[in-house]
Amino acid sequence: MCGIIGYVGRKKALPIILDGLQRLEYRGYDSAGVALVNGGSLEVFKKAGKVSELVSLIGDSGGPPSGATLGIGHTRWATHGEPNDQNAHPHWDCGKEIALIHNGIIENYSSLKRKLEADGHSIRTVTDTEVLVHLIEEMVKHSDDLFTAVRKALLEVEGAYGILVVSTREPDKIIAARKGSPLVIGVGKDEHLIASDASALVDHTRHVVYMEDGEVVCLTAGSFLTKTVHDEEIIKEVEEITFSLAQIEKGGFEHFMLKEIHEQPESIRNSLRGRLQAGQGTAKLGGLEPVLDRVLNARRIIITACGTSWHAALAGKYMLEQLARIPVEVDYASEFRYRNPIVNPDDVVFLISQSGETADTLAALREAKAKGATVVGIVNVVGSTIARETDAGVYIHAGPEIGVASTKAFTSQIAVLSLITLLLARHRGLSMEQGRILAADLASIPSKVTDVLRSSAHIRSIAEEFKHVSNFLYLGRGSNFPTALEGALKLKEISYIHAEGYPAAEMKHGPIALIDEDMPVVFVVPKDAIYDKVVSNMQEVRARKGRIIAIANEDDTDIGELAEYVIRVPRTYNYFGPIVNSIPLQLLAYHMAVARHCDVDQPRNLAKSVTVE
Ligand code: F6R
Repeated sequence: MCGIIGYVGRKKALPIILDGLQRLEYRGYDSAGVALVNGGSLEVFKKAGKVSELVSLIGDSGGPPSGATLGIGHTRWATHGEPNDQNAHPHWDCGKEIALIHNGIIENYSSLKRKLEADGHSIRTVTDTEVLVHLIEEMVKHSDDLFTAVRKALLEVEGAYGILVVSTREPDKIIAARKGSPLVIGVGKDEHLIASDASALVDHTRHVVYMEDGEVVCLTAGSFLTKTVHDEEIIKEVEEITFSLAQIEKGGFEHFMLKEIHEQPESIRNSLRGRLQAGQGTAKLGGLEPVLDRVLNARRIIITACGTSWHAALAGKYMLEQLARIPVEVDYASEFRYRNPIVNPDDVVFLISQSGETADTLAALREAKAKGATVVGIVNVVGSTIARETDAGVYIHAGPEIGVASTKAFTSQIAVLSLITLLLARHRGLSMEQGRILAADLASIPSKVTDVLRSSAHIRSIAEEFKHVSNFLYLGRGSNFPTALEGALKLKEISYIHAEGYPAAEMKHGPIALIDEDMPVVFVVPKDAIYDKVVSNMQEVRARKGRIIAIANEDDTDIGELAEYVIRVPRTYNYFGPIVNSIPLQLLAYHMAVARHCDVDQPRNLAKSVTVE
């Protein structure tokens, strides 16, 4: 959350920064701002609203008078202080010489503020960020240079930050620091960039350096110097960006979310590629090998994650327990961290995260590690913090996910969990014959997803019918309970309709009171071992005049008698079913949001990659 970009080089900084902000906008879109250093002066533009508002502001003002070649930009997801013009970043010091942008939360900002105000600083906003720039101003008085002043200031700060700092006194430098919020340096020819993620850099360079927590860097056009906050120099490795520009563009689709929904046959194929060993009925996962023995002998597996990734974790529990016969617990990362969980060295903790930067999941990782457990990442973003801090891990290879509502990462997470399950199950007694049947089913999933995507127009017509309702219930049982949870989350986050996911049989223990002729109920009801039980739950809804939309198999000829609308999905092996069955729910949420004129890719109050706790 919050997007950060900085440029220092020979080119005009402003267009590079505005373009980068547009790419980073999915990380926050409450306000945006830029600061350009032009020799002895600081030019700042900032505005509430999206980056397009900032672009108009700059255009209306006739543009900056300078052709500055150094600048920083920010797109905000508000924490402290409402999203208005004044609270937008950059913030500056009393003398308007130093400007700063920030992603994170300065937890001890009130005590720092009191001290700084007592020392004569005039702090104009209620943000935690402005306090930090005044603290740096104070440190500059007692330091040789800005680099040192920033390091000294950070020693007094509690909380999380990714910051960029510039000063008119040292107009050729950007100072950056990271603790808890990601920053990646882009290394170009006679230029350096720095951003919250590599998507804002790939237009300019494929060479990147990932900053670690506790590091501070001084960037000029021709050099970068990295130190710890405690002044020890660090040699950093330059790495290569693994994705292409085309992957982070809309490619003709109206929204990133729709593009990513349609990419799923390919993204799932990429998750399975080179790993599924159909002939041996097993999987090969190089990333898991260093810890395979520990996983196989684990007393239990704990899977921890947030949001959609948590739903994937729950789908993983069903398959791992059933097939690999290892006890699995699933925990919200935000809860795991703060309840002093009982974790032992013979436990294995899986962390699932698309971004690999989610603050709660990262905190859970560190907690589990501190308690001696083996920690394994299931992550999408290559080189992200969670991927780097785990003992071992399996990338899901879904490709960049830009839409704030997660879609292709979810199905790829479950695809990878299916591979892990197959591998562990084969080691723990599943026969080769059975393994081959499961592997063949997994291999067939991408083409089944292609089939489901053909129902998009039918699903759009259902969305038109229901676009004015205020509530939705999603019900599923067994491995499709997580599917129901995910369907409800997708609907509420992008269409703002209240939706709840429930295990179908739990409905009669409470939520059934909600059913009347105005309540649409989505049933995920494939022909599995508990099909008849779910059909009974459907009867209960129907008896109370609830309106049923069923996600049912193509060969289910009876379901039309119970459901008002049926969306057909191919049959899939029970435990892999959530991959295929969640596709129509993603499309339903998408079409509902479009029908209600909601901003699909940038839903209100949300941001991708939640880097604050
Ligand atoms: C929902 C969504 C969020 C994320 C959650 C975890 O569509 O995107 O619920 O799933 O914030 O994010 P990651 O997977 O990046 O850790």
